[in-house]
Amino acid sequence: MAKSPYQIGLIGCGTVGTGVLELLHRRRDVLAGILGRPIEVSKVVVRDLEKTRHNVYGFVKPDVFTGDPADVTGNPEIELVVEVAGGVDEPLQWMKESLSNGKDVVTANKAALALHGDELFQLAASSKRSVYYEASVAAAIPIIEILQNGLVANQITHLSGILNGTCNYILTRMEEAGLGYGEALEEAQQKGFAEADPTLDVSGDDSAHKLALLARIITHSHIPVEKIFTEGIEEITAEDIAFAASLGYRIKLLSIGSRHEDGSWDLRVHPSLVHRDEVLAQVRKEVNAVQVKGDAIGPMLVYGSGAGSFPTASSVVADIVRAAKGDRPIMNSANGQSPEIVSIDRVAVRNYIRVTVLDLPGVLGRVTSFFGMKSINIQSMQQPEAKHGQPVPVVLVTHAVEDEVVSRALDELRERTDLLNGPTTRIRIED
Ligand SMILES: NC(=O)c1ccc[n+]([C@@H]2O[C@H](COP(=O)([O-])OP(=O)(O)OC[C@H]3O[C@@H](n4cnc5c(N)ncnc54)[C@H](OP(=O)(O)O)[C@@H]3O)[C@@H](O)[C@H]2O)c1
Repeated sequence: MAKSPYQIGLIGCGTVGTGVLELLHRRRDVLAGILGRPIEVSKVVVRDLEKTRHNVYGFVKPDVFTGDPADVTGNPEIELVVEVAGGVDEPLQWMKESLSNGKDVVTANKAALALHGDELFQLAASSKRSVYYEASVAAAIPIIEILQNGLVANQITHLSGILNGTCNYILTRMEEAGLGYGEALEEAQQKGFAEADPTLDVSGDDSAHKLALLARIITHSHIPVEKIFTEGIEEITAEDIAFAASLGYRIKLLSIGSRHEDGSWDLRVHPSLVHRDEVLAQVRKEVNAVQVKGDAIGPMLVYGSGAGSFPTASSVVADIVRAAKGDRPIMNSANGQSPEIVSIDRVAVRNYIRVTVLDLPGVLGRVTSFFGMKSINIQSMQQPEAKHGQPVPVVLVTHAVEDEVVSRALDELRERTDLLNGPTTRIRIED
C-alpha cells in the first residue's frame, strides 16, 4: 500500500516561499524516493488572498491558499509548518502554536530566532518537536549543519563571517566603482540586493542576529543579542575605502566570535579592515562566507549565496527533508544560560584612525603625542600632500590596544578644535 504523503503547511509565499514550492516540485520524485513517501504542500498562508500567483499555480492548486495561519498551525493533517513570512511577533506566535500542536517547524527567520530562540527551543524540547533553521543564517551555505554535526569533534575557537549580502554588495561597489555610500546603496536597492528600508541590514543588526544563532551553536548556550557589540556601515566613506586600499586592506562588515582561553567569548559585528590577501577580503558583492577555526581542523572557509529565492529555498527544502526523516537537530535549549561575553571595551585590536587636522606648523607632532599620552602606539601614519591652509586628512594605524582606550581618546580628541577640523573615523582591523 502506498504510504500517505508527508503533509506540510507553508506560511509565506514570497521570495523564499515560491522558491520552496518550485524546488519541492522539481525534486519531488527524488525526494519521494529518499523519504519513501511524497511531500505534499496542503496549505499555503498568504496575507493577500486576492493576489494572483501564476508563478506557483504549476506547483500547488489555487485552493491551497488561505489567509488564516490557524489553517496550518492547528491543522491535524499537517506534520510540519514552514514559516517563511518574516516579521517577529506573528511568526513567533505561529511557531509556538505549531510546536504546541505537535508539529515540527522549519523557519528562515533569523530575527525571531535571535530574539526569542531560547523560548522557542525550550518549547520545542518540552513538546518533543524540533525547530530547523538552516536558511536563516547564510541562505544557501549549510553552516548550521556544518557546525552542529560536521565539526562536532572540534572546539570552535574563532568564527568570522560576511553574513550580510547587502552590506558586502555596498562595500564592494564603493571600492570597485568608487561610489559613495548613498550611491552604492541606491544601486543595491535597484538590483534587489537591498530592501526599500535597508536599516536592519546596514545597521549591522541583521548580522548580529545571525551571529547570535551561530554563537548559540558553538557555545551550546543562549546568546542575548543585545550583548553583541554592533556597528553598521552607514558611516563608511569612499575616502576610507580608498585609504584602506592604499594600505593593502578592504573594508568588510564582519561578524566575529572569538573564544578566549578562559572560555569567555568576544562577540561583535562591525566594519573591519581585512588584509587583501585574506580569503574574506576576496568575497565580493552579495556573496556570504564564513571562516571557522576548530582545534582539530584548523581554519576552514565556506562560501556561497547568502540570499535569493532558490539559494534560500535550497536550505529550507533540506530542512523539510531532515524533518521528514526524523533527524533531530541539537536544539541547544540552554534555559537562558549564556557564556561570559567579553565587553568590546576589553577587546584589543589594531585600529585605522582617520583624523582631519588643521594645516598648522607642528600640528601632526601634537596629534601623535596626544595618542602617545593616551598609551596608544602608532604603527604607521599616512598623509596626502596638503593644499596650503586646507584641513588635511591623516590616517594612523595603531598597534593593538584595548577598545575603550581608543574610544575615550577619540572622544577627547574630537573636542580639540586647536588640532582638528573635520571628521574623525575609527575602523577596527581584523588580524
Ligand atoms: N529573501 C531572502 O533572500 C531571504 C534569505 C534568507 C532568509 N530570509 C527570510 O525569509 C523570510 C521571508 O522572506 P521573503 O524575502 O520571502 O519575504 P517576502 O518576499 O516579503 O514574502 C513574505 C510572504 O509572507 C506573507 N506574509 C507576510 N506577512 C503575513 C501575515 N501576517 N500573514 C500571512 N502571510 C503573511 C506574504 O503574503 P503576500 O504574498 O500576500 O504579501 C508573502 O507571501 C524572512 O524571515 C526573511 O528574513 C529571506
